[in-house]
Order: sequence, then structure tokens, then C-alpha cells
Amino acid sequence: MKIDVFDNDKKNTSVKSISLIPFFEQEPVNSINPSLKQALEEIGFTGKSSDIRIISLPTIKENFCTMGLGKRDKYSIEVYRRALSQSLRDIEKTGIATVISILPGIDRPDAEAFETAYIAETTLYKFSKYKSQHNENHEIRELLISGKGDLNSSLRMGQILGKSTNYARDFANMPPSEGTPSYYEKLARELKNVKVSVIEKAQFKELGMGGLEGVSRAAKEPAKLVIMEYKNSSDKPFAIIGKGIIFDSGGISIKPSAGMQEMKFDKCGASAVLGVMKALSEMNAKVNVIGLAPLTENLPGGNAYKPGDILRHYNGKTSEVITTDAEGRLVMADALSYAVDKYSPKAILDISTLTGACVTALGNNIAGLMGNSEELVNKMLDVSSKTWEKVWHLPIDDDFREQIKSTVADIKNTGGSQGGAETAGAFLENFIGTTPWLHLDIAGTAWTQEKTAKKEYVGKGATGFGVRLLTEFAISLFN
Ligand code: BES
Ligand code: MN
Ligand code: ZN
Repeated sequence: MKIDVFDNDKKNTSVKSISLIPFFEQEPVNSINPSLKQALEEIGFTGKSSDIRIISLPTIKENFCTMGLGKRDKYSIEVYRRALSQSLRDIEKTGIATVISILPGIDRPDAEAFETAYIAETTLYKFSKYKSQHNENHEIRELLISGKGDLNSSLRMGQILGKSTNYARDFANMPPSEGTPSYYEKLARELKNVKVSVIEKAQFKELGMGGLEGVSRAAKEPAKLVIMEYKNSSDKPFAIIGKGIIFDSGGISIKPSAGMQEMKFDKCGASAVLGVMKALSEMNAKVNVIGLAPLTENLPGGNAYKPGDILRHYNGKTSEVITTDAEGRLVMADALSYAVDKYSPKAILDISTLTGACVTALGNNIAGLMGNSEELVNKMLDVSSKTWEKVWHLPIDDDFREQIKSTVADIKNTGGSQGGAETAGAFLENFIGTTPWLHLDIAGTAWTQEKTAKKEYVGKGATGFGVRLLTEFAISLFN
């Protein structure tokens, strides 16, 4: 889709277009075209936040989509995100390919332009690679934004972020037998200005990565630790690690079969990291960021790792395997301690579809946030408050640390069902030393289900949660 600034002087009247116009509830609308005003009165358009109408006026040869934003004093950028995205879905059905979008004019025009480009990209995303016919909707090919000031660079940035989010969704949505570690590596190598190196499965043992070695033992697809470096600042790096379980069957502690297909989404953390690296490089951001993705399947087999096994991780700590289904923390342990050891990052963050307990606690629209640095936690809460990617701070304290003590090893890989998100955080904490660290549990937010509360702009399947959040967070660390 082409996204550009609207220029009335260059308006091509031979191209069919539709104007998307925001309205607030109970406000007089005098400045609009009289024919449109009359039509709105006739159909009883209210301007309420879910009131969206498509109106074609043949007499003046114009098409409109009027978008209600509700009462002005209740307005927030989230109201705009939802209304815009629902409007674009309605417009898509008309088959009109050119949309002229007028900004609400509440926040700064550049911020609204950024949001518009970003939401348009994420709303109109489709995972249609495997559909033999994909003509359910027509395509919007051109989005022209009308607002004050120079909006060009905000539009470009918003679009990069939206497309990078979709790039992450594309990998996350892939079937588990095709969205493999090797395929991830291929995608990473396509990123411009990103240096890629790979630690292969054969090296896990000799490097002392017992978690990655254990979990990947019965995997058929070659497991990998993919490392992506984007250096455009001389500061110490910020390291981001994404859980990349290509398919989580649970291993020997096998999961129930109902719903198991959703465990192809256990690679959403790694997918988000890929999207962040793409966004940073395309934005030419002045940051130094290292992305790491431990990638493997978690499968049962005669050679699989077992409950009762004791694994020695990269930093020397040992963990007792109580269940092979708590595999994420085992592979993350090695990737985290490796990143700390090799790159001495100024901060480290992991993003992982780690626990069902986090979904139980926070639902499908809020990710769990844990960490060892109040400053970083507050920074994350602040960045998150400006995006749709909500987070909630959960505690890691001595009671949780107590729960994962093992009688035979340093720690065990589950602390039981109570406080499951926090005991997983307490486990990971053993692998970052004193480096300022944040942990995001995105088990509930990484993809949508039928029962998930509806957010028009995230659509079905992988949401790309974390791409915008981590990109903006990374930039804020280098300012
Ligand atoms: N990938 C799952 C977590 C998960 C579950 C994500 C449901 C999204 C939806 C993870 O590897 C897992 O299996 N965790 C277990 C841990 C438990 C065995 C300690 C869980 O949450 O049940
Ligand atoms: Mn699991
Ligand atoms: Zn998992």
C-alpha cells in the first residue's frame, strides 16, 4: 500500500476515492459539504464511537466514510485506533482503492499521522500465503493523509513499524513444519545492515548450553541460536532475546491434543525480535541492539530429554527437569547468559510465550512484565502506555525463588501451578547476573483466539505484539 501526504492541488479526479472523516458525538458539523450534512441527518449518524457509515453521493460524485469518535472528553488514541481500523475494514468491502484520511486533530498531527500509517498496515494485513484463492476483500492500494504540517517522516516511520510488525506476524503464523529455525535464519539474513551469526545444534554441547541441547535433542529440524547485530551507536548494546519454540508439543510431558495446533505460536517471541531488528534498521535508528533467538522444536522421541534429567546451563547453573513442557525457560537460560557473557549489554530484555499462568492472570490483552530494575520497569510502563501493547508489572520475590529450589540441582524448571508466571521469572533471573533486565511474558497477547476480546487492528492469528513496544523502547534507551 502506498501511504502519502494528501495534496488537494494534485488530486486526480478521474480516480475513484473515498474520504474518511472523523466526527465527535453531539458536535455541530457545519464545515462539511452540505449534501453530506443532509445525508448524515437523514440516516441519523450520531458520531458515537462505533458509528461508522459509508455514504456515496452520486450527485456530487463523492464517497465518504464517516467515523464516529464518541464524546470529545472521552477521547484517547485507542478510540482512534479502533475506529480507524473498523473504518478501513468497511472501506475495504467497497472495493475503492484510494482512501483520503483526515486526522482527528486532537494530538500532534505528526503523532496522528504516525498512528494512522501504522494502524492501516496492521489492520489490512492478511496471512494469505496458503490460500489458493484470496479475494475475500478488495485491496486498498493508496492511503493519502490530510493534516497540518510536514507529515512525511512520521508517515514513513509509522509504515515501517506496521510493516515490520506484519513481517513478524508472517513468520509467527507459518505452519510449524515450514516456519523452521533454518527459515528464520534465512529471513534474518535478508535484513539490511544487520550482521547475522548462528550457533548450530552441534555446538550447543561444547559451549555448555545444556538447556538448548536438552530441549532440541529429539528435534528433527536443526535447532539454532540465531544472533542479529544492528550497530548504529557506539554505546554498549541492548540485547533482546525471543523465545523461538517452533512447535511446543510438550515433549515427553506431552500436551493434550486439543488446541495443540496453537503451539506453532510458541515462536512469537523470536518473531517479534526479527520484526524489531527489521524496524530499527529500516528506520536507521541510532541504537546498538543485539537480537538473539534460540530456535528449536520441543518434541518427544526415544532420544528426547526427560523429566528427572539435570541440565547444566551456559553460566554453570544446573536445573532439574520436572516437566519437559517447561522448555522455554531452559532454552532462554542459555541465550540470556550467553548474551550477558559475550556482549556485556547495558540492558537485556526477553520476550517469551512462557506460561499459561500468565494468560490466566492477565488475559489476552496484557503481557506480564517482570525484571530486576525499577528504572527499566518504569521506562517500559511509560513506553507501553503510548502503544496498544499493554503490560502489567508482576513481582519476583523470595517466596517465588523458594518455590523453584531443587533437592538435586540448583533450581528446578517448575514451581507448581501457583504463581506460574512469577516462578518462571524467578527461574530466568538466575541467568542474567547483575545486568538490568526485563522479562515480558506474551503467552496471552501473541495471538488471538475466538474468545479473545476484539481489537480490530490486531486481526486473527499472530498479533506481532512487542514489535512496536520493543522498537520504541530500544530507541528510548539510546536517547
Ligand atoms: N509455550 C507454553 C506456554 C503457553 C501455554 C503459551 C499456553 C501460550 C498458551 C510453555 O512452554 C508451557 O508449556 N508452559 C507450561 C509450564 C508449566 C509446565 C510449568 C504451562 O504454562 O503450562
Ligand atoms: Mn511448553
Ligand atoms: Zn513453550
